[in-house]
Amino acid sequence: MHNHFSTIASKYQSVRTLDIKPVLYIKDKLKKKPKISMADVGCGDGRYALEFLRYFDDSFYIHCVDYNENMLLSLEDHLAAQNITNFCVRQGDANRLPLDNDLMDCIVTFNAIHHFDVPKFLSESMRTLKDDGHLFIYTRLRNQNSRSIWGEHFPFFVDMENRLYELDELEQHIKNADMNIHSSRVFGYSRVSSLDRLVHQAKNNHYSTFALYDKETFDESLEIFQQNITNNFDDLAQINWHDENILLEIKK
Ligand SMILES: C[S@@+](CC[C@H](N)C(=O)[O-])C[C@H]1O[C@@H](n2cnc3c(N)ncnc32)[C@H](O)[C@@H]1O
Repeated sequence: MHNHFSTIASKYQSVRTLDIKPVLYIKDKLKKKPKISMADVGCGDGRYALEFLRYFDDSFYIHCVDYNENMLLSLEDHLAAQNITNFCVRQGDANRLPLDNDLMDCIVTFNAIHHFDVPKFLSESMRTLKDDGHLFIYTRLRNQNSRSIWGEHFPFFVDMENRLYELDELEQHIKNADMNIHSSRVFGYSRVSSLDRLVHQAKNNHYSTFALYDKETFDESLEIFQQNITNNFDDLAQINWHDENILLEIKK
């Protein structure tokens, strides 16, 4: 997986879809805090960090944590190009956060929890959050993944992606860590794409799931995917489907 993220780092923003709704939702949840120190864990190339930096004022500071050096290099390029200075990068593991105790008002993790050792990450979040700190976990659940365009039409996608969680599994981890879910919110998205773009995304492993296929199986599956899409949609330039993700808000 590390190699996968190293390879995709420089083109990550061009192949992934950014969801703004959870960023605005988190901003609203934090509106009573005067000055915010946030950590984005598994930040990748910083596309979500950049959105937070856009929506908060200069009193906001974000620590961008990822274990992948190439992702962090891309992040530094993107943010420096926009003259942003209220951030730092910290190369390190979500399971052993490179952050001091009781430092953070808020920790967020987007599309990454299934790569972490969840009990260790939760325990590290407890350690590094201030007493009234918030942790937000944004992810797609296994059942949400299975209803996506890939889950419905790309052979083996659901079986191959066995790292994602169901809600009850995350709830159990959170309970075991002596933490409470304060709110949970499902976000739905009407997506539109062309078949060409979908093929481009799959070929570029926009989901790390595709990196789990061997080449032969991937090539055959991509052919079948294109056939499935052609059979199920009339306009291959405007394929419509519905995606869902969940955001969990946890208070220390
Ligand atoms: C699917 S990407 C998501 C990136 C970003 N949050 C986004 O949504 O654009 C997952 C990221 O988690 C990072 N990652 C995976 N396991 C990690 C770990 N144990 N500690 C820190 N980062 C990790 C990967 O390097 C990668 O950048």
